[in-house]
Amino acid sequence: MSVYFEATLARKSTVVTRDPKGYDDRVSTPEPGWPLRRIVVLPLVLFAVVSTSVFTLAKLHLAKPAAGVAGPVTLGNAQRGQLTFTEKCAGCHGTKAEGGIGPALAGAHITVDAAKAQIDNGGGTMPAGLVTGRREDDVLAYLATIFTK
Ligand code: HEC
Repeated sequence: MSVYFEATLARKSTVVTRDPKGYDDRVSTPEPGWPLRRIVVLPLVLFAVVSTSVFTLAKLHLAKPAAGVAGPVTLGNAQRGQLTFTEKCAGCHGTKAEGGIGPALAGAHITVDAAKAQIDNGGGTMPAGLVTGRREDDVLAYLATIFTK
């Protein structure tokens, strides 16, 4: 007899012998009493945990659209800005910014910061990033001349 065989025989005696037709105890032993925990408590706890985390995340608002664009708004050249406005914005906001598909901007109570955020992020049917960089600064300078402070 090889050493391996002997070792195997030796181990065999330690194997727990069970009734082969019996069910696994851990699975088949019913919980004591009505399964309240599984049917009521667990779903309630899950619901509370999930809704709390969703609510917390929503409150934290981690992906604030304007978060990255905060900072001083630099105003460019208002005259150039008006040309860019005619080219890029007038189709929706009107040649005199009197409104159209988009709301009237002339005389509107909007801050330049809010306008910048709107241009950077878009909103409603207005696409984001129609103008960027210097052209955006120019448009903002133009808007600053037509907004009501
Ligand atoms: C495709 C049409 C469209 C174009 C082009 C467009 N806008 Fe708009 N804009 C809109 C709409 C629609 C709204 C209203 C958005 C909303 O309800 O959230 C809006 C809103 C705004 C607002 C905010 C108004 C407010 O009352 O808060 C500003 C500022 C603005 N646009 C500036 C611009 C500028 C500057 C440009 C050009 C670079 C431009 N828009 C181009 C459609 C347009």
